[in-house]
Amino acid sequence: MQKIIVLTGAGKGIGRETALEFARRKNTTPDFDPVLVLCSRTAGDLESLSGECRKLGARTMICEADISRMEDIDKLVDVTMSSFNRIDCLVNNAGVGRFKPLTELTPEDFDYTMSVNARGTFFLTQKVFPIMERQQSGHIFFISSVAAEKAFKSSAIYSMSKYAQNGLVEALRLYARENNIRVTNVMPGAVATPMWGEQAEQLRNVMMMPEDIAAPVVDAFLQPARTTVEELVIRPTGGDINS
Ligand SMILES: NC(=O)c1ccc[n+]([C@@H]2O[C@H](COP(=O)([O-])OP(=O)(O)OC[C@H]3O[C@@H](n4cnc5c(N)ncnc54)[C@H](OP(=O)(O)O)[C@@H]3O)[C@@H](O)[C@H]2O)c1
Repeated sequence: MQKIIVLTGAGKGIGRETALEFARRKNTTPDFDPVLVLCSRTAGDLESLSGECRKLGARTMICEADISRMEDIDKLVDVTMSSFNRIDCLVNNAGVGRFKPLTELTPEDFDYTMSVNARGTFFLTQKVFPIMERQQSGHIFFISSVAAEKAFKSSAIYSMSKYAQNGLVEALRLYARENNIRVTNVMPGAVATPMWGEQAEQLRNVMMMPEDIAAPVVDAFLQPARTTVEELVIRPTGGDINS
């Protein structure tokens, strides 16, 4: 069955690998026909990812959009709806982090982080929810973080933005359960992605890889419709990197 899957932050890291994993499962899951709507701010990333997903047999659509901008949120949802007239899955993955000691974080760091992680995620979800409500089906993922439950010294604003996402998840569930919509909150620990910059290379041996998050996300989506994996907490076996 065709499934329209919108992924934000699909160009790199966890989002990229999740798109590829959805595409791979087309070949291993009977009747699963994913159509991947790939969103980020960098067209080049989306074009190369789209090519890889197509090689695996999945259909794709690219939407260059910045979820911190309301007009881009509208564009992403509107182009998806005008092409497919439904949304079966939204993966709220786009996220940013500015990691510094508490006293060095600036108002610009605050506004930038909150505008993507909290505000953008909220308003995109708010726009997609009524579509799923009309369908009486759908699945919304949040790629949150262990920093939504636990403090790290360099992550004050990032943590605030992820705690905020958790608040949205809990409120959304109250509506989702009444409308046959599944909500999954994914809270990973450290994953080696471009978000970590050069540190990713140095800390690789104590981090997870993007595919370690992508596979459980796709597994959760492919559960029977009667079943919701509500929360996935996924850590490196050696525990958190405390910085
Ligand atoms: N890596 C970790 O250790 C880790 C751990 C826990 C949770 N997470 C969460 O997992 C998610 C993905 O992180 P990642 O590590 O894969 O990060 P990443 O490698 O930096 O990739 C983030 C993706 O999001 C896109 N993006 C950023 N801001 C955007 C915006 N305003 N609108 C649309 N797309 C945007 C980026 O592309 P453009 O810049 O081209 O837009 C990129 O494709 C984030 O929510 C992050 O907080 C990461």
